[in-house]
Amino acid sequence: MQDRLPADSNDDDGADLESPFAAMSDVDTGQPAPKVFIKTFGCQMNVYDSERMNEALVAQGYSETSAIEDADLVILNTCHIREKAAEKVYSELGRVRKVKDARSAVGRETVVAVAGCVAQAEGAEIIARAPIVDLVVGPQSYHRLPELIDQAKTCSKSVVDTAFPEEKKFAHLPERAPSHRVTAFLTVQEGCDKFCTFCVVPYTRGMEYSRSVADVASEARKLTAGGVREITLLGQNVNAYHGQGPDGASWSLAQLIRHLAQIDGIERLRYTTSHPCDMSDDLIEAHGEEEKLMPYLHLPFQAGSDRILAAMNRKHTIKEYVDLVARIRAARPGIALSTDIIVGFPGETEAEFEETIALILEVGFAQAYSFKYSARPGTQAGKLDDQVPDVVKTDRLLRLQELLDRQQSAFNAHCVGQTLPVLFEKPGRRPGQLVGRSPYLQAVHAEAAPEVLGQIRPVEISGCGTNSLAGVICPA
Ligand code: 5AD
Ligand code: SF4
Repeated sequence: MQDRLPADSNDDDGADLESPFAAMSDVDTGQPAPKVFIKTFGCQMNVYDSERMNEALVAQGYSETSAIEDADLVILNTCHIREKAAEKVYSELGRVRKVKDARSAVGRETVVAVAGCVAQAEGAEIIARAPIVDLVVGPQSYHRLPELIDQAKTCSKSVVDTAFPEEKKFAHLPERAPSHRVTAFLTVQEGCDKFCTFCVVPYTRGMEYSRSVADVASEARKLTAGGVREITLLGQNVNAYHGQGPDGASWSLAQLIRHLAQIDGIERLRYTTSHPCDMSDDLIEAHGEEEKLMPYLHLPFQAGSDRILAAMNRKHTIKEYVDLVARIRAARPGIALSTDIIVGFPGETEAEFEETIALILEVGFAQAYSFKYSARPGTQAGKLDDQVPDVVKTDRLLRLQELLDRQQSAFNAHCVGQTLPVLFEKPGRRPGQLVGRSPYLQAVHAEAAPEVLGQIRPVEISGCGTNSLAGVICPA
């Protein structure tokens, strides 16, 4: 799992993520397996999609490489949420071109594919701007990847598939391959019907779609059989989940969570990312009742002024958000709240920005992700002419982040002296150290024997920084 859960990075340009998996080909053809290199940008849904693409390709005889020079197939899984994130793809393609040329000079072919939201949004334009691209594939067509790659190899022209096909990709992707991880993402819902005026997601990911409970549960069982203990349910608007239940009725996210909590081996459940209007009573109750549902909730509020919220088409007011937080905190006292905030939405005044600061002070967040507004093609807000100058956005972002860092440090400091159950996930940077996660999603470092990996142990927290905690495992 990536170090940080919510959807994107604070640096305004979509993080590029190291490939979180390394799988070997299990298909013995006698030939050296072709190698695939996948670079992932953006949110956790892209991380999940990259894993599924990797698994589909491994099933076809590929093996994964982390060295791009060795790759017969390079996939960039891209993010379109802000302009800088989308532009990053083109600078990356410049680097890929050099690799492709160098390989070609020694007679080695390289297929270059652009996947993800930039692929969906820009389609054939990508090939016009970067002719080295052989294949453009949208997020709904990943199950067709092996076939599309074959087409790209044999066809003299580049291949573009950005359709929203009738058949759903989840039904056609191979089953999850066993992994040796402790935590995993599981996409349960895709797309969004909310049409916030700043956001490209409804255009790049399409209308809201929920997978069936049986499908999700079967994937969760596969993951736990491979050693996964914590699953984060993903969706662009995950709490709008309404997949078909085993009884044929439409089930809510709360019902899905309660169902998954009964699977042996699942110790912890999380979900992200949510819209305040879809925080239903049963989901709030589940936070109070379901022990495996971790006390951490990512609940974006985006802006602290009712006028801006209306212009964003967020469909709720500040008072409704504050009341909702109070109900959630009543159901699950001590829950850690995280959020997304945009500064400099068109027309945002200094006074309206200060309302955002006031809301942060009123609610108190354990963690938050904040962004400068970025005008996106095709969105309603992108057409507005009262855009806020970049210097003003930068100034507001810095002031906002200073406050958010202080709140995060204060939240971490209040954990010092407490004993928290920590799920240990991976070796730490120092020898003899492991890193795990607290229920509140903080990274926790502790001295521990390697066999503690995958276990939940009580840790007495002895120190903290802005981004992590340190502690000592309590004797058994
Ligand atoms: N500009 C800036 N931030 C944006 N986000 C979405 N669209 C934009 C945009 N056009 C932010 C929102 C969302 C998060 C994933 O990215 O805060 O919750
Ligand atoms: Fe984008 Fe709004 Fe949908 Fe979130 S709820 S994905 S911000 S349109």
